[in-house]
Amino acid sequence: MRLSVNVDHVATIRQARMADEPDPIWAAAQAELAGACGITVHLRGDRRHIQDRDVLLLKKTVAGVLNLEMKATTELLATALEIRPGMCTLVPEGDGELTTQGGLDVMAEEPQLRDAVAKLKESGITVSLFIDPDVVQVGRAKAVGADIVEIHTGIFAEATDPDEIQREFEKVRVAAIAATEMGLKAHGGHGLTYRNVQAIAEIEEIVEVSIGHSVVSRAVFVGMDLAVREMLALLEAPA
Ligand code: PXP
Repeated sequence: MRLSVNVDHVATIRQARMADEPDPIWAAAQAELAGACGITVHLRGDRRHIQDRDVLLLKKTVAGVLNLEMKATTELLATALEIRPGMCTLVPEGDGELTTQGGLDVMAEEPQLRDAVAKLKESGITVSLFIDPDVVQVGRAKAVGADIVEIHTGIFAEATDPDEIQREFEKVRVAAIAATEMGLKAHGGHGLTYRNVQAIAEIEEIVEVSIGHSVVSRAVFVGMDLAVREMLALLEAPA
């Protein structure tokens, strides 16, 4: 299972002072040197952490896959088509949310998503849709032309009751199997930590995870290199 490291929260620390450090570009280089397959950043409409300048520089410096997460707005689509990251993950984005709250409702936004996916793919960008672990959403993601579904692992990650953990895990597993059977690649992400990631690593159909908060939190204490290596070790040794 591959690991794409989300460096948004390195930018969060920088933006707390509107300063020039710590630079997410340095974090990205260290994460890749430690074995990450690529780097993810979420360019939010309010630019609260990642800035346009970061995406431009990462496009020039990331050796693996640069995955740009964004809401499919006209403005952000234009930015993506100009910068042309290797991959775009389309996500919902609500005003004032602390982090992404749940996956896209592909049915409700089908025409806009179909159009956005087509435009990005015409530019050679691989497109992933962030969806809840729901087989119906997987089918609609396939119908609008996505290459990948990133299955939302946040509800699984936040569950505390053992039965609920098992139920949520099963939903993620079933959605990943359905995606693979439909010819989509299955990725996972949101809320994954050093404590819960091994269960997800057991799901063979999930070929990549995107992890940000937990890796950056650990990197504050042990450095990005060790934080990434420790996460990779867990991904290589499922529970
Ligand atoms: N995947 C998506 C679509 C996200 O929006 C986020 C958060 O930016 C992540 C993965 C990473 O989540 P976390 O920071 O909880 O690891």
